[in-house]
Amino acid sequence: MSTVPGKAPRTVLPDTPEHDVEASRVEGVPARVGVLGGGRMGAGIAHAFCLAGSAVVVVERDDDAAEAGLARVTQALARSVDRGTTAEPLADLARRVAVSTDYASFSPCGLVVEAVPEDLDLKRQALRAVEDVLDDGAWVATNTSSLSVDALADALQRPDRFFGLHFFNPVPASTLIEVVLGARTAADLEAAARSWVGALGKTPVVVRDSPGFASSRLGVAIALEAMRMLEEGVASAEDIDAAMVLGYKHPVGPLRTTDIVGLDVRLGIAEYLASTLGPRFTPPAILREKVARGDLGRKSGRGFFTWDDAAPSSAPRPRPDLDTSPAAPVKGERT
Ligand SMILES: NC(=O)c1ccc[n+]([C@@H]2O[C@H](COP(=O)([O-])OP(=O)(O)OC[C@H]3O[C@@H](n4cnc5c(N)ncnc54)[C@H](O)[C@@H]3O)[C@@H](O)[C@H]2O)c1
Repeated sequence: MSTVPGKAPRTVLPDTPEHDVEASRVEGVPARVGVLGGGRMGAGIAHAFCLAGSAVVVVERDDDAAEAGLARVTQALARSVDRGTTAEPLADLARRVAVSTDYASFSPCGLVVEAVPEDLDLKRQALRAVEDVLDDGAWVATNTSSLSVDALADALQRPDRFFGLHFFNPVPASTLIEVVLGARTAADLEAAARSWVGALGKTPVVVRDSPGFASSRLGVAIALEAMRMLEEGVASAEDIDAAMVLGYKHPVGPLRTTDIVGLDVRLGIAEYLASTLGPRFTPPAILREKVARGDLGRKSGRGFFTWDDAAPSSAPRPRPDLDTSPAAPVKGERT
């Protein structure tokens, strides 16, 4: 579909030296990978596949966004070189990354991962446009954190080539990727996806398309119980979190995690899970009340803890390696 007119910063065509698949060292990942959307997650996904050896093209909606996406990927690659995560020189890595505003740039890709904002209609439209330029055998994945993979697949002509690849934020620090199998995903996808995720240096968790996949469903279940315990006066927020951190080796307690994710986001997820999985996910009154008061967690300065900049005043500094699963679900979303 669209090529946006104007001065594309690095609109690429397959087989140009800029998009140098010959120089790649592909092992276990598709030789050419496309990423739709070069924002927070898309840039991380492009960085991960580039490090693993793929030639990556990121398609953005306009020139400025493409330029910003390229800068994000390049900075992440530079950090990996500085930290010794890769022995490859930055120039060689950068040669394998290109950005474009033209969906046709995806045409030689064996896999395209969609990472545009969490909006059912936007994703459906974008995925359809991606599918149109790909070979029949190519795979298309969505990085949705909450939408139904099957609902997205309804928009596609080849739903058997479609699945979910749920990366966590920030991508370089996270070692988990959920592989979400839709009802119509082809049977050979699972083995291929396991191999790709392994080649990215991460661990796959394979789940059937269902509300909350595995991660959000379990994470939210624990958090809601922690809120009920706080409501009932079983223990303080600090002590409830400490029980999980010290007793069960969770890196961050459930209430502090909720503060980091955003109480409004978790309320939206809980409402969606309650509507799909049943009343055990009904949000506790304390959560509704805090959201109504505007106590949304870290972003508003107060949630279950009081936050001073990036750290809660009554608990240790949070780790950055959480999936801060973003926007609240909209109609039809899964979390
Ligand atoms: N941020 C997180 O913590 C997180 C974690 C896991 C999954 N996710 C999921 O990843 C997806 C992306 O989230 P994000 O945080 O990276 O968002 P983001 O806003 O940082 O990035 C989205 C990008 O998509 C681009 N875009 C919008 N419409 C486009 C179009 N039609 N064509 C091409 N590009 C387009 C935007 O310009 C932007 O750069 C969402 O589905 C989100 O739910 C996010």
